[in-house]
Amino acid sequence: MPDLEELFENNRNWSRRIRESDPDFFHRLSSLQAPKFLWIGCSDSRVSANEILGLAPGEVFVHRNVANLVLHTDLNCLSVIQYAVEVLKVEHIIVCGHYGCGGVHAACGHTQLGLIDNWLRNIKDTYARHKKELEQLDNTAGRADRLCELNVLAQVQSVCHTTIVQNAWTGGRQLAVHGLIYRLSDGLLHDLAVRITAADQLETIYRMEEP
Ligand code: CO
Repeated sequence: MPDLEELFENNRNWSRRIRESDPDFFHRLSSLQAPKFLWIGCSDSRVSANEILGLAPGEVFVHRNVANLVLHTDLNCLSVIQYAVEVLKVEHIIVCGHYGCGGVHAACGHTQLGLIDNWLRNIKDTYARHKKELEQLDNTAGRADRLCELNVLAQVQSVCHTTIVQNAWTGGRQLAVHGLIYRLSDGLLHDLAVRITAADQLETIYRMEEP
């Protein structure tokens, strides 16, 4: 397939480079994956989890979708969280957004883009909840940047509201849920200073008792 020839060449070079520096690498990795981190990030082609974090294959379990949303009805995202927490036993779940997120910008506007508008509607809910704060910002770029942050914070809560995460905590597991944001213009990650490690950090209505 000539269109993809460059990609195959890249792949062969990458595989060779790794085997030259660590001959056992792929053998080791094919028998076990034991990542400590689950990354929930945006599908944006510029926000690649392994590269940003400087992690090798095997070190981070990844779920990406448009605008890094964690919806309580999304079987795909919930299955990733369940597998990561219960089978791989990750110790950290990182929700990472990014400034300049096209999904968040679209949610700030009113132009129809198609099916995806229904997905991005969830970000409008976050906008509506924080309308007062957002509309005090006098420029649209600043408003969108703040909504990128608020969206991450909302998704961190959403991860913690799952029975998957709460059952891990009641079972005595060390599991921290973090909110980060990435800046495309300098390649740096920023901690939004939210770190949830127990159900008592959640609004009471979302706390679930042990089954
Ligand atoms: Co994005």
